[in-house]
Amino acid sequence: MSYPRHMIRTKILGLGSYVPERVVDNHELAFLDDRHVRQPTRQTETSDEWIQQRTGVRERRYVPNDGSVWTSDLALHAARRALADAGVDAAELDCIIFGTLSPDFHFPGTGVILQTKLGIAERTSCACFDIRQQCSAFIYGLQMADAFIRTGTYRRILLVGAELHSHALDFTTRGRDVTVLFGDGAGALVLGPVETDDPRAGVVYTSAHADGTGASDLCLKIFEIARLPYLDYDARDRDHNALMYPRMEGKRVFLHAVRGMVMSTQAALARTGMTWDDIQWFVPHQANLRINEKVAEVAGIPRDKVLNTIELYGNTTAASVPLTIDHWRQHGRVKRGDRILSSVFGSGFTWGAAIFTL
Ligand code: UT7
Repeated sequence: MSYPRHMIRTKILGLGSYVPERVVDNHELAFLDDRHVRQPTRQTETSDEWIQQRTGVRERRYVPNDGSVWTSDLALHAARRALADAGVDAAELDCIIFGTLSPDFHFPGTGVILQTKLGIAERTSCACFDIRQQCSAFIYGLQMADAFIRTGTYRRILLVGAELHSHALDFTTRGRDVTVLFGDGAGALVLGPVETDDPRAGVVYTSAHADGTGASDLCLKIFEIARLPYLDYDARDRDHNALMYPRMEGKRVFLHAVRGMVMSTQAALARTGMTWDDIQWFVPHQANLRINEKVAEVAGIPRDKVLNTIELYGNTTAASVPLTIDHWRQHGRVKRGDRILSSVFGSGFTWGAAIFTL
């Protein structure tokens, strides 16, 4: 949606992110077993050269392999930082929107678990949503938050994307196309209403799209609910446990990603009447550096406005956009008041774009 002048707009009150400490570079990745322990012999046939050339990823972060960290913990760190940045107490939150494809459990959603970890579970007036739009969750969640705030439904929303990918990757040559791409991390925003006549303040524009015919091109099934029993394999049996790991038609996803991100970026500019002179930064989802370079080339985006972090964090799915913005803010490039155009693409297929002022 693009909005006319209006008194209530959605302001980004705070931003925060978190990545676990363990750095796994491409070389080490090839030697890890599925408990993330480095073995003397190569476990996956891959190379630093292939990964950097085809994806741009140099390293990624993994949680400790002792079973102590949940997706909700990654989210908690990012949320606390975003709340501190906003000067908002957790008790003021009246809504949590949690985007993840790696939830703590199948159900309930991770939003309620985060609510408890934030110490506000008694605040029963805090609604908790989990959303399932994978790499597009940030834009889908931003659109939801914007609608809730503009209609006065909620006044303090925590939008968080967090992923613990490293426990659900196939550390053998079979899974190498997917495993090399992904990392663990979290990013969060705190959003609230502001009264202003400035049509370029806060969230200016959001658009969300989907094409379900791409659902099987990038998916992680784990189980099939139509079957009895719905989960019927030995998780340790490599010949039969393929359902435990993501599968991807890489080339099809790549082409659809470029198309969806280019089209949604161009539509964002056309619908708002903005040009790259009005926008400081383009923050694409971080799936593959070559996707982002192609999008910039086709959509005519000035190269010095494109922000990436995939080299350092890989693909962190729902977390990638807020994590990238916060990374570059910590490095002094992104500043409060900067206007950002973000576009994303993910499993579903889902995609979208947004323009907002930080
Ligand atoms: O976040 C959601 C959206 N996700 C994406 O947007 C990802 C989109 N897709 C991609 O990023 C790329 O398609 C990949 C990085 C996954 C794969 O790159 P590609 O250039 O499309 O390679 P390919 O799948 O065509 O594979 C080329 C070769 C194959 O070997 P053969 O059949 O030519 O002998 C693969 O088996 O590269 C091989 N290969 C690898 N080799 C070394 C695939 N993965 C690896 C690897 N290391 N990790």
